[in-house]
Amino acid sequence: MAKMWAGRTDGVTDKLADDFNSSIKFDSRMYKQDILGSVAHATMLGEKNIITKAEVDAIIDGLTGILADLESGKLEIDFSCEDIHMFVEQVLTARIGDLGKKLHTARSRNDQVALDTRMYLRDRAFSIQAKIKELLFAILSKAEEHKSSIMPGYTHLQRAQPITFGHHLMAYAMMFLRDLDRFSDVLKRIDVCPIGSCALAGTTYQTDRVFEAQKLGFSQIALNSIDGVSDRDFCVEFASACSILMMHLSRFSEEIILWSSWEFKFVELSDAYTTGSSIMPQKKNSDMAELVRGKTGRVYGNLIALLTMLKGLPLAYNKDMQEDKEAVFDCADTVDMCLDVFAPMVATMKVLTENMLTASQKGFINATDLADYLVKKGLPFRSAYKICGQIVGDCIKNGKVLETLSIEEYKKYSDLFDMDLYGEISLETCVKKRVSEGGTSPDSVAKQIELVKEKLLNV
Ligand code: ARG
Repeated sequence: MAKMWAGRTDGVTDKLADDFNSSIKFDSRMYKQDILGSVAHATMLGEKNIITKAEVDAIIDGLTGILADLESGKLEIDFSCEDIHMFVEQVLTARIGDLGKKLHTARSRNDQVALDTRMYLRDRAFSIQAKIKELLFAILSKAEEHKSSIMPGYTHLQRAQPITFGHHLMAYAMMFLRDLDRFSDVLKRIDVCPIGSCALAGTTYQTDRVFEAQKLGFSQIALNSIDGVSDRDFCVEFASACSILMMHLSRFSEEIILWSSWEFKFVELSDAYTTGSSIMPQKKNSDMAELVRGKTGRVYGNLIALLTMLKGLPLAYNKDMQEDKEAVFDCADTVDMCLDVFAPMVATMKVLTENMLTASQKGFINATDLADYLVKKGLPFRSAYKICGQIVGDCIKNGKVLETLSIEEYKKYSDLFDMDLYGEISLETCVKKRVSEGGTSPDSVAKQIELVKEKLLNV
């Protein structure tokens, strides 16, 4: 069948070229945005007397009928059409006759596709934000529950200082809070309406772009029509926000996988979020967390694909840009799936506090506190650090730990040591005393939880 754009050419393309060129397989998911965009466009055309009010009514009737029929399943997408825009226009014309052909006045598919993509990503960004919030609530309640549970804090994956599990979880809460903010930022850049840019140069009709933008819930219009149809920064930003979010989920996944291992045994995932092995009966694998970590790569891939696709493009629209959609759709779908499993996986995760405490006990994790003890008794920190380093070295040689070294032994290193040192280096004290803002003490963690809750009320 000849294409709707037949004219200069006969509109008959080679079958393979046709498949290659067509985007309806993936852009059909924007049917709703396409139809709502067209309703606003027809309304504007009527408002500006470019078409009559009766024509507007008939077009809108036709369009809302198509939307209803698509949603009820009465109308099926015809995948032989080139894209969703052509499909809707074709069905409209079939249903209301030649009048359907007036809809495309003062518009081009170039500004239409930019509009649809913005509207679609706006919906997806809002829904991703809602899912991030759910994850945050799961993290906050776990953190609340474990604001006093002691675990080893690591640097270089070596035991460093005692922290609370609540504190560790709240570090992730901060990351996801930034992700929320990042999507709000992406939404600001999405909130620019390109429709009315037409093919690239604007139009000779007396259109009202601001009216049309407002009808579609945009607070700004693209100020330059060439930029209106060429700009895909919002896609790059969307993919970038998704990539950073995935990077956070992936780091969290990596820790959950480590913590679930026999070597750590800090947490146990609910059976609902693990799998077994087909051969090894003892296995309980953290497949969901591993998949989240694995899927991070494809989201980064989408971001790089978008940046690369755009880097050499002359202005304005080029067909290369059709590639934007699969990239952003895959980002949105992947992020959605990952967040959907992640929040309940965290919420149902069992925290093995005893094991965390045991792991904190024998790694000289309180050596900094031993040095601080000497500093508080008047020794400069560097000297205190040196003495404590020697004590740790000797303990390791002799199979001892700081808690079991006698006061006589301590006194050999410094006269400043006294019986009160044992209380000072107990893990509970180490944690409780870290009261600096953002620190690991249970009070400080409680404050962090409150602050994040407050911020969540304003997003
Ligand atoms: N399917 C196209 C896309 O997704 C729509 C825009 C087509 N415009 C054009 N001049 N061929 O980018």
